[in-house]
Amino acid sequence: MSAPNKSYDPVEVEALKPEEIERLRDEALAAFAAAGDLDALQEAKVAHTGGASPLALANREIGALPPHAKAAAGKLVGQARAAVGKALAGRQAELEAERDARVLVEEAVDVTLPYDRVPAGARHPLTTMMERVADVFVSMGYEIAEGPEVEAEWFNFDALNFGPDHPARQMQDTFFVRPAEDGRGAGGAESADGESGVVLRTHTSPVQARALLDRRPPVYVVCPGRVYRTDELDATHTPVFHQIELLAVDEGLTMADLKGTLDHMVRSLFGAGMKTRLRPNFFPFTEPSAEMDMLCYVCRGESVGRPDRPCRTCSSEGWIELGGCGMVNPRVLTACGVDPEKYSGFAFGFGIERMLMFRHNVEDMRDMVEGDVRFTRPFGMEI
Ligand code: DAH
Repeated sequence: MSAPNKSYDPVEVEALKPEEIERLRDEALAAFAAAGDLDALQEAKVAHTGGASPLALANREIGALPPHAKAAAGKLVGQARAAVGKALAGRQAELEAERDARVLVEEAVDVTLPYDRVPAGARHPLTTMMERVADVFVSMGYEIAEGPEVEAEWFNFDALNFGPDHPARQMQDTFFVRPAEDGRGAGGAESADGESGVVLRTHTSPVQARALLDRRPPVYVVCPGRVYRTDELDATHTPVFHQIELLAVDEGLTMADLKGTLDHMVRSLFGAGMKTRLRPNFFPFTEPSAEMDMLCYVCRGESVGRPDRPCRTCSSEGWIELGGCGMVNPRVLTACGVDPEKYSGFAFGFGIERMLMFRHNVEDMRDMVEGDVRFTRPFGMEI
């Protein structure tokens, strides 16, 4: 700040002379015009409009003038500062617009460029479906049990009470890796040691026998896995597919426990209000045996007899066939060293592909095995 203005004459104060104010104004305008970018403009702004700038200092001199001189000096400085402020704002807008235009060009992304990133992989919907079913039982305390896919004929058939002449033992249904050694061919094996032929397991039920031989009752296991049959690949068949099997062996288990367990499963997987029904059937390893159906989770049975409201999921049947089930045949318990007088059990098994088909409206089973990510991607990144 300059020395006190003792003469009270505004023109006597150097900093308030009109030429000086004009010069300061022009200097500021020139500095703003010369600023090539926003950083330079910021520096010029501080130098020419900040608290220590010559115009701000001149403004402070006004206070020391006599009252009659203040108005003229105030107007002079005020106009100059207004012009400087306006020039600053104008240049600021100009430089910002230039920056925005430049950023748009520099940071543009060419969305048409081919991309070379490898997309993150996701598990196959069959795997996640199978684990989702298994989880229902794991949360009830069941244990996951596994068995080999290349299985002894004894486990796949004999232990499960399939007679030697059962049609499933024929080559047209089962992939034989090695027929029984004793020359009796498929179906001749009688025990687990040596004589048994070797097959690609045709179902997950042999894991029932393995689980019973490995543990003492009570046994509560769930066995997900891959199985093989000599079917041609078409829209509704595949020679390699997946099943999930359940086995419970304990004292006093009845068909009511089986039914309650099935109902709990369909409610967990398909929502409240779901239920199952059983229809008589035959399996060598269960007695009695049943076919299990679940209520159609789409129409909940309401499409039955209503041609005006057809249901594609259950073909207006109201029920969807799920798989087989029953009370474990005492002969299976005996073959696995479990006393059928003391223990009883229930079991069920069904195909995962079929469940995925009706749960997600998959129309062609081949889509599940071809490995095309256009099929799997809509299922998302479930871990
Ligand atoms: N293993 C049978 C199949 O593949 C399905 C089955 C039926 C499993 C009844 C079971 C059962 O556990 O009790 O056709």
